[in-house]
Amino acid sequence: MYHRYDVLVIGAGGAGLMAAAQLANTASCAVISKLYPPRSHTGAAQGGIGAALANVEEDHWIWHMFDTVKGGDYVVDQDAAEILAREAVDAVLELEHMGLPFNRTPDGKIDQRRFGGHTRNFGEGPVRRACYSADRTGHMILYTLYQQGIKNNVQFFDEFHMLDLIITDDGICNGIVALEVRTGEIHIFHAKAVILATGGFGRVYKITSNAMAATGDGVAIAFRRGLPVEDMEFYQFHPTGIFKLGILLTEGARGEGGILRNASGERFMERYAPTLKDLAPRDMVSRCIWQEIREGRGVDGKDYVHLDLTHLPPGALEEKLPDITDFVRTYMGIDPVTQPIPIQPTAHYAMGGLPTDVDGRVTIDEVNTVMPGLYAAGEVACVSVHGANRLGTNSLVDLVVFGRRAGRHAAEYVKSVDLEPLPPEPDFRARAEVSNLLERSRGENASIIRATLQAEMMDKASVFRTGEGLAQMRTTLSQLRDAYANVSVADKGKIFNTDLLEAIELGYLLDCADAIVEGALARTESRGAHLREDYPDRNDADWLKHTLAYRTSGGIQMRYKPVVITKFEPKERKY
Ligand code: FUM
Repeated sequence: MYHRYDVLVIGAGGAGLMAAAQLANTASCAVISKLYPPRSHTGAAQGGIGAALANVEEDHWIWHMFDTVKGGDYVVDQDAAEILAREAVDAVLELEHMGLPFNRTPDGKIDQRRFGGHTRNFGEGPVRRACYSADRTGHMILYTLYQQGIKNNVQFFDEFHMLDLIITDDGICNGIVALEVRTGEIHIFHAKAVILATGGFGRVYKITSNAMAATGDGVAIAFRRGLPVEDMEFYQFHPTGIFKLGILLTEGARGEGGILRNASGERFMERYAPTLKDLAPRDMVSRCIWQEIREGRGVDGKDYVHLDLTHLPPGALEEKLPDITDFVRTYMGIDPVTQPIPIQPTAHYAMGGLPTDVDGRVTIDEVNTVMPGLYAAGEVACVSVHGANRLGTNSLVDLVVFGRRAGRHAAEYVKSVDLEPLPPEPDFRARAEVSNLLERSRGENASIIRATLQAEMMDKASVFRTGEGLAQMRTTLSQLRDAYANVSVADKGKIFNTDLLEAIELGYLLDCADAIVEGALARTESRGAHLREDYPDRNDADWLKHTLAYRTSGGIQMRYKPVVITKFEPKERKY
């Protein structure tokens, strides 16, 4: 089936919906999502969206910018970080005007709480910058933006899986190919511009806060089509996932006063980060938790420490952290009002992704040449505002600020260009992929390959890494690829064939894992979330640069791109 629009937005999380909101009244726009939109992973973001509103104490956008750059261990593009911090203020107010129900101060302003790595006066101590809606901030953003889409008559194609990008011989992106889950039909969507807002790929790891759908579709499809992926080695582990399950317990819990304790009840973060303590940035806190566990101070000798909320004022949990209180009661059978919570770091966020400029245009090389017609925003993109370690709350800021910028730019772009004709047989790759998977009668089992991938990535490419472990992971990945080449699906039907879709998604996860491991092997230093035990120091002389990984017929090739430094010279990070 054939469809034609000015702009296609792929993904209905915060970035996609924010982009669509800019386009609704100026261009014909379709939002194509593999999920029913309110199930998008933005809904899992809990504790807040950072903006220097200064509603409860002094704050300035430049402090937010500084924290973002320092938090990212200085491999952040500072032109983009400045835009993020400046435009966060207006973006939060826009969300408020759309009707987002933020928590309020007694005098009716948007309330703000503390979050990791956010400081006053360039690092002096924690500042209250996170605007929040209890611990459902992402959920509220998602619903608010979805309502805007409905109000503005955005055309939604729910439960359509993107399978390929359409790119002309002249290198212009002018559409996508998608599979309709309900019917198994292949659809061609033809457009002047495509905005990828497909999210991240936390499902590469065994313990993750990410939804099942976070399989890196947009990243992998572009990577397969020869586009580069940037800084993939930087993958964030959030310090507080529920032990063994990985379910997120918001940093807002520590923002409200929660404390991390080891087996002896010691508040160990005081030793590692004397100023910010439990509110140090995530890369540090996750490392410190593992350090405690490795040195035998995990609780009961196991791989967890405690998040202690028992001293918070009565009612604080139910009023300000109701969802995580509920999760802990439901999944662990313990009451966080009276009992500490077993936690461990959980795979949470990809700092890397498709390189873009500050208007969301996807770039293809070291000098930022733009691919006409292709945009990316949100976790699928790397603009790069998160560098080697994202600050808490900045994912939501990123998706509203850069989703908005991508939408606005695309709205202008489509006025200035004609619709390029489709290349011949634009759906041949997608059809071949689907029929290969369906036709193979016997073969490897996708769920076994996926479980091996996730366990091995957790072991060899997570918080602590070594050259040896990563090299072993490279070999494992090549074996998993061989197995994947023979994968078969049991369900041969067309309607709601989730077996088929999971096998396709596994291919995307393998692509993302390849790029993570090659980037991590190449980067022989430690920076932010990338800790090489065999190269424990940051090395600005050789590595103050972005990696660009390209999939070529001879394997993955690395190239490098300079970091944009405008205001803050790199310094040692101390908290
Ligand atoms: O901890 C949290 O609430 C997560 C927020 C984020 O990833 O920014």
